[in-house]
Amino acid sequence: MKDVEVLATVPFEPNAITGLDSAYRLHRLWEAEDKERLLAEIGPRIRGLATGFSVGAPAALIDSLPSLEIIANFGVGYEKVDVAHARGKGIPVTNTPDVLTDDVADLAIALWLMTSRRLGAAERYLRAGKWRGGAFPLATSTEGRKVGILGMGRIGQAIARRARLFNAEIRYSQPRRRNGADFPHIADPVALAAWADVLFVATPGGEATRGLVDSRVIDALGPTGTLINIARGSVVDEPALVRALLEGRLGAAGLDVFADEPRAPEALLSLDNVVLLPHVGSATVETRRAMGQLVVDNLAAHFAGRPLLTPVP
Ligand code: 8YV
Repeated sequence: MKDVEVLATVPFEPNAITGLDSAYRLHRLWEAEDKERLLAEIGPRIRGLATGFSVGAPAALIDSLPSLEIIANFGVGYEKVDVAHARGKGIPVTNTPDVLTDDVADLAIALWLMTSRRLGAAERYLRAGKWRGGAFPLATSTEGRKVGILGMGRIGQAIARRARLFNAEIRYSQPRRRNGADFPHIADPVALAAWADVLFVATPGGEATRGLVDSRVIDALGPTGTLINIARGSVVDEPALVRALLEGRLGAAGLDVFADEPRAPEALLSLDNVVLLPHVGSATVETRRAMGQLVVDNLAAHFAGRPLLTPVP
């Protein structure tokens, strides 16, 4: 396959990059000083694109690769790939579902525990030497809570399975009821938030869910409610979230994703009822390796004429 030329936009996972390098003639876009020039030179010969993170595959990049046959995205979320544009040109897109579900759901639960039990603040308390001056204030139990899940896909369901172990009552919201879902469906996110003690955001990103968690949802969750977001920053109206947290209209938030990564809103950095993580939901050696392998395997399947493993719907 050394005659097949593949372009990787970002160094998404070292083993996968090595795998692509041994199978194809691999070009590394991130290493190019003049990316435009590299694309002009090699673009016409590129048949496979491996991409991910915030780069994705916008229409302009797809158009600069006239021989492109397949786009393999490193990540389950593919909102940075212009799938409609690719489809219009007959180019299939793959993503990396399933392999990251458990780690992301674990992180969602970790954020819930961290916010409810105030673990970040408690640890800072000890490190600051305050324990000797008195016990850390009491926190809130996670037992038997009302758990709302916004988006009952693979990750939402994995969160639900874990929340059950905390004896949670679970309801979910998404545009349509899931066939065979174990939990009550509430179509309106505001109604779900009004019912819930904690709301997990587990929807896809992109235009369809932009600002879905707006000020009405945040206010419905209220001063005793907790918002956990492991999906995409775009799903939440971030300025409204920041205002609600500053004004005490929302109890707490655990956030792994933000509107303008790699930046988190400055105003949240000093709040003790907020846990902020640098988008680490899938960031384990095991999961990232499996995600990288899926990128390699999807490209291999395509160039061998076999069915793709994980084409996006
Ligand atoms: C990654 C993610 O950090 O899979 C996703 O959609 O958000 C994370 O697993 C990211 O995709 C890396 O490109």
